[in-house]
Amino acid sequence: MMTRKTRIAVFCSGNGSNFKALFEAIRNKQLPAEIVLCISNRSQCGAMEFAQQNGISTLHITEKQFASFDEFAETMVERLKEHQIDIILLAGYMRKVPDAVVAAFPDRMLNIHPALLPKFGGEGMYGIHVHTAVLEAGETETGATVHFVNEEYDKGEILLQRTVPVLPDDTPETLAARVLECEHRLYPDALEKLLALRRS
Ligand code: GAR
Repeated sequence: MMTRKTRIAVFCSGNGSNFKALFEAIRNKQLPAEIVLCISNRSQCGAMEFAQQNGISTLHITEKQFASFDEFAETMVERLKEHQIDIILLAGYMRKVPDAVVAAFPDRMLNIHPALLPKFGGEGMYGIHVHTAVLEAGETETGATVHFVNEEYDKGEILLQRTVPVLPDDTPETLAARVLECEHRLYPDALEKLLALRRS
């Protein structure tokens, strides 16, 4: 009997370059998975555009559309269930995922963070702020981390991590670009690892 492919939802807020890298890697590595839903707090962004161009369902959902935070969280869980989502991949999603959603996907939600967690994580540490902090701290290496998501920001168990050098003349932007390139290989590898764990 054929087992069905693992159904993935990606959560994005921006360019979605990690989303694109995941999408391509699933095809190239022939992983037994498919991205079927893109959720964003922004109606228009690179990630949403890419989803639309590739026949992936999109959902623009924010707290502001609802009377209460609970209603927002419940609706998100309902939509994920409607799409029969097995795993969630946060890929540049710049909002905290509601606890109710985290609770509905135990050990089934990953996030990518552009630093070597537990260093340079937590509230306020996202995007370019992370790389600025790494340079200010005088680090000689940084990297990217894929970790499981729990209720505490950037604190879930680490699944995979890879380092990149910090060069003497780096700016936050040059460092961000080097880390992002690393992320594009790391996230597919972490997904492959999670799929293997789930099938073993
Ligand atoms: C990536 O560097 C990702 O690690 C970071 O935002 C960027 C999104 O780029 N995420 C965070 O900082 C989350 N705390 P992308 O939209 O091109 O994938």
